Amino acid sequence: MNFSYHLPTKILFGFGSLQGLGEEVEGLGAKKALLVTDKVMEKTGIVTKVSARLDGLSYDIFDDVEPEPRLEVADGVAQKVRNAPYDLVLGVGGGSSLDMAKLAAGLATNEGEARRFVGSGLLRRKALPTIMLPTTAGTGAELTVTSMVTVEGHKRWINSPVLLPTVALVDPELSVTMPQSVTAATGLDALCHNTEAYLSAAANVITDSAALEGVRLIVENLEKAFTNGSDRPAREAMSLGALLGGIALAARMVYGHSVGYTVATRFNLPHGVSCGIPLPYIISNYALACASKMKRLAEAYGVDGGEDPVALGVAIGEKVRRLVSKLRVPTTLKELGVKESDLSTLADECIKLYHRPNSPVVFDEKSMAHFYRMMWNGELAPGRE
Ligand SMILES: [Fe+2]
Repeated sequence: MNFSYHLPTKILFGFGSLQGLGEEVEGLGAKKALLVTDKVMEKTGIVTKVSARLDGLSYDIFDDVEPEPRLEVADGVAQKVRNAPYDLVLGVGGGSSLDMAKLAAGLATNEGEARRFVGSGLLRRKALPTIMLPTTAGTGAELTVTSMVTVEGHKRWINSPVLLPTVALVDPELSVTMPQSVTAATGLDALCHNTEAYLSAAANVITDSAALEGVRLIVENLEKAFTNGSDRPAREAMSLGALLGGIALAARMVYGHSVGYTVATRFNLPHGVSCGIPLPYIISNYALACASKMKRLAEAYGVDGGEDPVALGVAIGEKVRRLVSKLRVPTTLKELGVKESDLSTLADECIKLYHRPNSPVVFDEKSMAHFYRMMWNGELAPGRE
């Protein structure tokens, strides 16, 4: 039962919470801010909406964030933030913009190229204060120690406690105009965060409580938000589900995200799509190793499937696969376009590059190759060993 949980981030949640931005800026005593975002956010008018709430604070904009940002983008934002006396960084957008904003705040006080800090705990000096304003309901980046970067075609992470944002301001209003495909991808990402964190061996009572409620909210509302983007209660529930996923992320991800990384860059997939495809198979294959947890997970997923953990895992997996299909996302690796001859290469890469010491299922090369084949064929039943 022993655990530790550290979350110094102040959370402001709800429709209209953007109105509180000026007060947060004032509370931090900021004089000059750097607002990190992408060009889409400028076009949709969200940047104008946010800057109107800065109450006259002097600010500059860095809008060169790209999806799945490369190291070059991280170095670009570092150069920008080091060139003027900024004392606050704002992140506005999806996970990529928030990750680059966090990294800008860290690189402002830690000298050197972004490449030097790839890994865990290498950013050591305290970062600039940050305020994160997510415009999607998915990544949970507003509450994590991680910034993802793409290095030579592979996804890598820069992890450091100094990257934890100062304020997470989650106003579902900012997510209402999200296009359907982004709603699907980011919603699946949030479902993966809650589910994988719950299945992680590093889970604790706080991450489990957040994860189960996050799953429930997302399962009940993702399709509604996808079908009708202006369904405000569904948008609010999705924002909350994603926020809870951010809290749960402290338990770290298992191999669903790893599989996602192996296909994301090859097929140019949004992050949430790449980890949504393996999710049904992760649940059914972890059922035995997480036997005592499956009943509560099934309840959160709204699945009534008896007591047998493996049967529950398969039943939840089937429900997730139906949801994935309704969101117009492929449900197998074959449907995605993975070649059968590439399965063992992907499986090797998954273990070597994206190893998960906190996974209760331990994969070796053979069992990972078998798992990839199951995801390729669309087989949920793991079989008993
Ligand atoms: Fe994710």
